[in-house]
Amino acid sequence: MNINFLMEETEKKRYSVRNYLEREVEPDTKEKIESYIASLENPFGKKVNFHFLNSNEMEGEEKLGTYGVIKGAKQYMGTTIKLEPMALEALGYELEAVILYLADLGLGTCWLGGTFNRKGFASAMNIGEDELFPIITPYGYPAEKMHIKEKAMRRMIKADHRKEWQELFYNNDFSTPLGEETVGDLRFPLEMVRLGPSASNKQPWRVLLKDNACHFYEYKEPGYSKYFSYDIQRVDMGIAAAHFDFSVKEKGINGDFDTECEPEVELPEHMEYRFSWIRK
Ligand SMILES: Cc1cc2nc3c(=O)[nH]c(=O)nc-3n(C[C@H](O)[C@H](O)[C@H](O)COP(=O)(O)O)c2cc1C
Repeated sequence: MNINFLMEETEKKRYSVRNYLEREVEPDTKEKIESYIASLENPFGKKVNFHFLNSNEMEGEEKLGTYGVIKGAKQYMGTTIKLEPMALEALGYELEAVILYLADLGLGTCWLGGTFNRKGFASAMNIGEDELFPIITPYGYPAEKMHIKEKAMRRMIKADHRKEWQELFYNNDFSTPLGEETVGDLRFPLEMVRLGPSASNKQPWRVLLKDNACHFYEYKEPGYSKYFSYDIQRVDMGIAAAHFDFSVKEKGINGDFDTECEPEVELPEHMEYRFSWIRK
């Protein structure tokens, strides 16, 4: 898998596009996207399946709705997995790779885990009952202006805001915040994690720097995942892994992910270990 976009520039271009021009993505661009998807891999070794849908295959807005959240989109892609450990993180990692790749091409997307008719899209995309179908995204050319509901949504979830470093990153234990100035070359990958998208912009990622490793934890927002049949914030953790991984690779910092390196530290409430990145 080739990461041929620059992380910071591309993440700054990316935002959740909810209003699209009624213009289809050209077949040769779609081919490029499909071959990029075919090349994807993830550090968790779990299979992520991609499914495509064009609006002319849709049977009616009603059945395939996004509750008025997405307007104008002609094309969608959906992702499915088998529900097994680290599969939601794998999905987050791979779909974020695609979303950044599309942003680099000037195409808009919007992660949708809640505001879409899951049954309607599952049947239009021929998704089997044995597959978990957590997320879809529209993709296409962004309209010049946001629609009214989109603006209201962004205000409500404070979509342009991100938590500060001291709330997200820790040194050795969870009572010592990690100083941005003291982390050397890890400042960039951590900053890229901080800027990522997340469900309802809740930013559940927490990182503990200890013994030459970054340990990633999920701050599980109490009650939030009860709205879903799976832990949607694990998908956010996969997005954090992608942003971190693409950033360290861009800067030539060597290391590997491992899911069985939980350090012995006292955990704050609602904090759960997910994976580590160990420097080589
Ligand atoms: C896993 C996941 C699920 C999301 N689900 C929805 C959704 O159902 N509807 C929606 O409008 N936005 C959804 N979003 C988009 C977030 O609200 C958005 O990423 C966040 O507010 C930050 O805004 P930005 O993407 O423009 O930076 C989701 C994002 C993620 C990562």
